[in-house]
Amino acid sequence: MKKLPKIIGHRGAAGLAPENTLAGFRRAVDFGVRMIELDAKLTADGEVICFHDETLERTTSGQGAVAETPYAEIAELDAGRWFAPEFAGTRVPLLSEALAYFRAAGIAANVEIKPCPGRETETALKTLEVLDAHWSDADPLMVISSFQRVCLDLAQQHAPHWKRALLTHHFEEGWKQAVRELEAYSVHGNFAAFGKTHAMDVQLLGAQAAAYTVNDVETTKILFSAGVDSIITDRPDILAAWL
Ligand code: G3P
Ligand code: MG
Repeated sequence: MKKLPKIIGHRGAAGLAPENTLAGFRRAVDFGVRMIELDAKLTADGEVICFHDETLERTTSGQGAVAETPYAEIAELDAGRWFAPEFAGTRVPLLSEALAYFRAAGIAANVEIKPCPGRETETALKTLEVLDAHWSDADPLMVISSFQRVCLDLAQQHAPHWKRALLTHHFEEGWKQAVRELEAYSVHGNFAAFGKTHAMDVQLLGAQAAAYTVNDVETTKILFSAGVDSIITDRPDILAAWL
């Protein structure tokens, strides 16, 4: 089985550059990241963008719900100035633009399907459509993750060849059954929820264990010694220097 890299850049390198932007993805790669996690979300008119929140305020110059804003408006927003003046003018990228960059740079992708409530099916199907058009089996590793079981079920039905990761906040009741049913490639759990045996339990199911979001060396050491395969981090600079 192809291994997950030890470090995955969270939303690019969210501690170093504006999250879910091409500038952020480039910054992650500058610090040695070989796999990047991003959040895939749907605009009002059904375009798949790289975006985490349900609303525009925190990370852009805009306001209002992403689900109610068409792509043409979102494309005009500044998604970098909030982070630091040097990133002014940074835009919200389409998922297809992120994938084009990853392919060109030889970077593996972790595409988290992040639907707004009520848009789970539509978001999953549109994201799969973009992946089918812009990624091939010959490209680097690509893993689809989601907290939403329905999104992973759709990925399994519509594109069984793509790898799937179960995202979990607490290793909720039934997670092992979900891993089996989804034939999951990996389980991405909140770092604070990893007990002594969770990583081993994941591996006994034939999957790999990744922990999010870890930004310091001490916690990383503890997780690696508990058998965790991969760390999803905002601070690849700190972890890469240590590794
Ligand atoms: O994929 C790991 C992590 O990104 C999940 O949480 O809220 O940062 O998307 P969140
Ligand atoms: Mg995410």
